[in-house]
Amino acid sequence: MPRILSGIKPTGRLHIGNYFGMMRPSIDWQDKGEAFYFIADYHALTTVHDPAKLRADTRNVAIDFLACGLDPAKATFFKQSDIPQVTELTWLLSVLTPMGLLERCHAYKDAIAKGFSASHGLFAYPVLMAADILIYDADVVPVGKDQKQHVEVTRDLAIKMNETYGASLLRLPEPSILPELATIPGLDGQKMSKSYDNTIELFLEEKALRKKIMGIQTDSTPVEAPKDPASSSIVGLYRLFASPGEVETMEAEFRAGGVGYGDFKKRLFGAVWEYFAPARARRAEIESDPAYVDEVLRRGAERAGTLASETLLRVRKAMGLS
Ligand code: ADP
Ligand code: TRP
Repeated sequence: MPRILSGIKPTGRLHIGNYFGMMRPSIDWQDKGEAFYFIADYHALTTVHDPAKLRADTRNVAIDFLACGLDPAKATFFKQSDIPQVTELTWLLSVLTPMGLLERCHAYKDAIAKGFSASHGLFAYPVLMAADILIYDADVVPVGKDQKQHVEVTRDLAIKMNETYGASLLRLPEPSILPELATIPGLDGQKMSKSYDNTIELFLEEKALRKKIMGIQTDSTPVEAPKDPASSSIVGLYRLFASPGEVETMEAEFRAGGVGYGDFKKRLFGAVWEYFAPARARRAEIESDPAYVDEVLRRGAERAGTLASETLLRVRKAMGLS
């Protein structure tokens, strides 16, 4: 049975890109192996320095993930910082991490370009992520495309550790990225991302969701003129929520002309609203029972902690510390 591991940062409310790129694939994996999913609060600290916000976002990620179908009876679900062993492994990996490997990482360069200050934590982010993956001996890491490089760094570090300290010390993970879900488009047609302010959050109120979807950027093609379905983020998003037949109908109407973008957006809104209706109902239930969420995360940490301590001890022994 493969061991599956993934994490998501609590840096704001989760959106449709997170859902299709990472959450739903992870939820699908929970039936196919031994799954470990965590809320990456240590990672969030590289950019979030408001404790109340971090706490609230962490809570919301937990509730959202459970509402979307993460089943704590199948997957171990926990908060990254409840397993401080991972920070020790980060150091142990750091001593073998070439500077050049980190200098090449896109995520670091992007964060600096966005104006975050160049802290050591931001630079060393991929080493902590490698420790996350290696400490649970993960085989498979379901993530969106932007995280692929970090899993490659993880493999490089594991290989280096194994060459130095023993061939089977650390298990080499593989990323799992579904090509059709690699990049979910946002309101402006670019990749949906918090940093581009183009997101559609999963659990918006009806009015707010409608407003967001009606705000999807379109060109000025008149109602009666034919439109290109291939380049439209309305169609790109609709494909995630509608049946193949419904998508075909919309594509044909794009090509034929005679229907305005507003009508297509209304149809998209209807599909999104309906798609998340069951999760919305579950979310309301879970939110009303904070003790349940605490208990899920506590148990998850207990289980994850046992495994992490075992790996850490193995590495400490191999390196001459224990
Ligand atoms: P954001 O870009 O909004 O800050 P994160 O970088 O925190 O999102 O992403 C969390 C997870 O969701 C990662 O696995 C990432 O690959 C995935 N993800 C985020 N946005 C998208 C998207 N637009 N398409 C596919 N996957 C995405
Ligand atoms: N860096 C990931 C992101 O930004 C989150 C993350 C942290 C992660 N540790 C991980 C993902 C380990 C997979 C495995 O989305």
